[in-house]
Amino acid sequence: MSSCNMFTNWHCFTLWWCYVLQFSKPITSEEGKDLGLVDAVVPSDELLKASRQWALDIIERRKPWIRSLHRIDKLGSLPEVVAIIKTARQQAKQSFKNLPQHQACLDVIEEGIIHGGYHGILKESRVFKDLISTDTSKGLVHAFFSQRAASKVPNVSDIGLKPRKIMKVAVIGGGLMGSGIATSLILSDIYVILKEINSKYLLKGIKAIEGNVRGLDVDMVIEAVVENIHLKQKIFADNEKACSRHCILASNTSTIDLNIIGEKTKSQDRIIGAHFFSPAHVMPLLEIVRTEKTSAQVILDLMTVGKIIKKVPVVVGNCTGFAVNRAFFPYSQSAHLLLHLGVDIFRIDQLISNFGIPLGPFQLQDVAGYGVVVATTEIFSISFPDRTFQSPLVPLLLKNGRNGKNNGKGYYIYEKGSKPKPDPSVLPIIEESRRTINIMPGGSLYLLRTMKLFR
Ligand SMILES: NC(=O)c1ccc[n+]([C@@H]2O[C@H](COP(=O)([O-])OP(=O)(O)OC[C@H]3O[C@@H](n4cnc5c(N)ncnc54)[C@H](O)[C@@H]3O)[C@@H](O)[C@H]2O)c1
Repeated sequence: MSSCNMFTNWHCFTLWWCYVLQFSKPITSEEGKDLGLVDAVVPSDELLKASRQWALDIIERRKPWIRSLHRIDKLGSLPEVVAIIKTARQQAKQSFKNLPQHQACLDVIEEGIIHGGYHGILKESRVFKDLISTDTSKGLVHAFFSQRAASKVPNVSDIGLKPRKIMKVAVIGGGLMGSGIATSLILSDIYVILKEINSKYLLKGIKAIEGNVRGLDVDMVIEAVVENIHLKQKIFADNEKACSRHCILASNTSTIDLNIIGEKTKSQDRIIGAHFFSPAHVMPLLEIVRTEKTSAQVILDLMTVGKIIKKVPVVVGNCTGFAVNRAFFPYSQSAHLLLHLGVDIFRIDQLISNFGIPLGPFQLQDVAGYGVVVATTEIFSISFPDRTFQSPLVPLLLKNGRNGKNNGKGYYIYEKGSKPKPDPSVLPIIEESRRTINIMPGGSLYLLRTMKLFR
């Protein structure tokens, strides 16, 4: 049961919650009671009766009226509090560029602290009214409910299936993604076998994986080798032979249609996409890709593993690029088109990060690695030959000994202990790429139309 002031603000609080979620820490009713914010905790069916009795007790002076709104005993001195708010403002400005709600929350808290709780509540109601109708608010509320809806998958989560226990997982390929996925699993106490080889020992390695996988009888294999259709097909066929019949066969592919990956197996019902995002042990999204043949049990099992390792599993359909890269690829292509039309790449990245996206498209390519950029472009160009812009730039960068963050040299220079810096020595390579594409002045519209990207 809440104190009167808390109670009257409850509706407001529910929506406000969407705003403050990234910034604050939820507490349980019991913790609220210990902190003196809540008078009592009662079962929901007794709430009304207990509230009435409590109100009567206050009126009859049998109980004190504790108004949490006016409590200041947990606050430090005013200068201390003002300094804390100032630091919080700077942190919010850095982490949540262009999002108004964090500063607004701090404005409200500051008002309450300086002028008293009642003024804080009045300010909250004014600020709330202003913010609730903004596009940012609508977007955040949508994201909040979508995230919750993502765990409800028709014919999977509502047919009485129980998730099976996934105790051991094999990760094949220990590069950027494989090592991140393995870290995520290990951090959640899931036993991991990580297999890695170089190309020279490819065949020998596959045999060794087979042996290990069979020996340890894992519940799921997540393949995270380079984005190569034939290699993935071979690994899936080998895993099918090596693993038990219940083992889930998952791929971390960014783009390749899972029906193609599983083409050489007879286990289509347990083939599924487990698409993590880089860095895999940090990014919350887990895109789970189901084909028409993936069984409900396998989908549910992977959703459960996703939750255990503290990801947000979102089940999507199967096609080239799935949901995320299908949307993301044109964004990245547009950046390359702009570059070839003469726009400065560092300006593009700066504008995007000013907008609030942590990394611009070029710096993101540096971080993801050029191998995956080249491979995904190839996969998209096979599926959509008339809609893919084959930028010659990334192959040129590779030819010039650059591989992004991986070897410290990409569009930016990466040195230990310092922030990435734009690298001016990349500009002649960009010029060479522009000459290869040879867009004439005024040819921009022609190029875009030719690409059929903008009709
Ligand atoms: N880089 C990203 O941001 C990103 C994001 C999401 C998904 N992915 C996908 O994840 C997969 C791996 O990408 P990555 O960026 O980690 O690549 P990577 O090049 O960093 O790592 C791939 C690793 O696989 C190893 N390998 C190659 N053949 C193997 C085999 N037969 N057996 C075992 N290991 C083998 C390689 O030695 C290498 O270390 C790709 O399918 C990619 O599309 C990448």
